[in-house]
Amino acid sequence: MKHSLIALALITFAPLSALAQSKPADDITAQAEQIFRGSFREDNPSYWMQRLDQDETMRLCSQFKDHPPTKVRQKIEKAEMASIRYPVDGKLIGDWKEGEKLAAVGTGGHIGFIQPDPPGRVRGGNCYACHQLAEKEVAYGTIGPSLQHFGKLRGNTEQIIKYTYDKIYNSNAFNACTNMPRFGLHNWLTPEQITHIVAFLVDPESPVNKD
Ligand code: HEC
Repeated sequence: MKHSLIALALITFAPLSALAQSKPADDITAQAEQIFRGSFREDNPSYWMQRLDQDETMRLCSQFKDHPPTKVRQKIEKAEMASIRYPVDGKLIGDWKEGEKLAAVGTGGHIGFIQPDPPGRVRGGNCYACHQLAEKEVAYGTIGPSLQHFGKLRGNTEQIIKYTYDKIYNSNAFNACTNMPRFGLHNWLTPEQITHIVAFLVDPESPVNKD
């Protein structure tokens, strides 16, 4: 009888004690971070290791699993918007032919490449990794919406040109926890290169807007 009571107590309280031992979310995050960092050697070049550090935006997006409360979202978007820089001549639309090349390049800046980039090597926007753009390019990813006929559908008013520039420079300014990289903020594309990609998207002569 005594034994069966003890057994009963063990069965009853076993799930509770398991619960008491379960780690709070913060501990699990710290543990995951440790495992993640542990897979990189400490003598890796510093420019690799810097990429493991989250900035405030990434930290908040992780904390709220990409769905921050309205106030936090607005705070992120405001700070990201304030980071946007423009070309010195103030012209936000460049040459679509240059933009076409930049949108297709996805090989610059990779971990393992020599840093800083040697003269002449562009990092590129790798836009096709996530977007459909010119019709002739059939290899594209679908993480982002199709941008085919972007200019045809949206027009090329000053407002659209500025939006397109700003979105490419810092995507999070419009969508706090987007999956789209912040190309200008991280110097992945220069302001001038962004103006070329803007032209690739909005110029009526660009293959993006031809069918
Ligand atoms: C890693 C994936 C990824 C890459 C690379 C990427 N994007 Fe995006 N992009 C997205 C996602 C996801 C969205 C939709 C969510 C949002 O608006 O933030 C988006 C949205 C956009 C929009 C807004 C569309 C609209 O309807 O207003 C534009 C413009 C855009 N991307 C342009 C580009 C250009 C140009 C490049 C290359 C320089 C690029 N993107 C590279 C993921 C990506």
